[in-house]
Amino acid sequence: MRILVTGGAGYIGSHTVLELLEKGIDVVVIDNLANSNPESLRRVEELTGKKVVFVEGDVRDRAILDSIFDEYKIDGVIHFAGLKAVGESVAKPIEYYDNNLKSTLTLVESMRDHGVKKIIFSSSATVYSADNEVPLRETSKTGGCSNPYGWTKYMSEIILSDMAKADPEWSVVLLRYFNPIGAHKSGIIGEDPNGIPANLMPYLSKVAIGKLECLSVFGDDYDTPDGTGVRDYIHVVDLAKGHVAAIGYMMENNGAEIFNLGTGTGYSVLDMVKAFEKVNEVPVKYKIVGRRPGDLATVYSDPAKSREVLGWNAEYGLEEMCRDTWAWQKKNPNGYKKD
Ligand code: UD1
Repeated sequence: MRILVTGGAGYIGSHTVLELLEKGIDVVVIDNLANSNPESLRRVEELTGKKVVFVEGDVRDRAILDSIFDEYKIDGVIHFAGLKAVGESVAKPIEYYDNNLKSTLTLVESMRDHGVKKIIFSSSATVYSADNEVPLRETSKTGGCSNPYGWTKYMSEIILSDMAKADPEWSVVLLRYFNPIGAHKSGIIGEDPNGIPANLMPYLSKVAIGKLECLSVFGDDYDTPDGTGVRDYIHVVDLAKGHVAAIGYMMENNGAEIFNLGTGTGYSVLDMVKAFEKVNEVPVKYKIVGRRPGDLATVYSDPAKSREVLGWNAEYGLEEMCRDTWAWQKKNPNGYKKD
């Protein structure tokens, strides 16, 4: 079997490519390297002893996509490629809608014209409305997104679902990720954000290693056990394995189906700081500041459907998430860039 992985050089993409190769699935990656480094794929090859076909290009470029489908027999696609910074999306809505929606549309047009009608889409818990009760189920209310990034995920879900309604040959799997963190246990591949990280774990680990001064904890007055925000952190390797499980489902079913990929357990910001300090025996300096606009108090999943239908379950806990984040950070203080 051969899978085309868009955005395969990125954080979640590279970990997924590794799991696919380990399962004996061949992979072609297309990535424009806007927020990733081909070194990640070189390292995946080193870890697995297997080859990845890499095409540098943009998923909005129909000619490149056509040439891939003409050259290789592709059985299905995992579509990760996209811009993903919430704050940046508010400042640059045109870029976000252009990138994330045009890529999805160009991809499915090329797929349809080549008779490849199986796609897994990288969606996000951000598509759930703020007024839901937790845990969030696949049937919980969606929409009312607070930023263009969230809307691009929401709209891509609608496009892909409508497509499956119109043509019963399509198999569409929408995976809604909660908060992916951690790294491969080797510490050889991991998350390498451009500039100052916006998300908690990459920021926290850069404080621990001394590259950033102090973690700002955004609010301690939420209605949560310690007042700080609660999230469903999931180890990126578990998330990657969720994609392997979804491929099995996609190959055997038609229509559109949604799955949460989370652990079902929520941890607060201070839980994360304390666990990181304890597991890695390193201090993390932090201060409490005001809330970040758009943040919710508590977000966590009900992963029952993924367990029952995909046979997938997150295996790693907080300790492994903290340990592996730190192993990657320590081995690669400058990410994939040369020191
Ligand atoms: C964010 C995005 C979400 C996106 C996800 C990708 C927002 C509002 N949501 O989720 O759409 O899909 O990233 O991973 O940006 N925190 C701090 N200090 C920091 C950073 C974060 O206290 O320096 C807190 C936040 O307030 C939150 C928790 O840590 O309670 C997690 O934040 P973050 O890692 O940014 O993820 P989300 O906001 O859940």
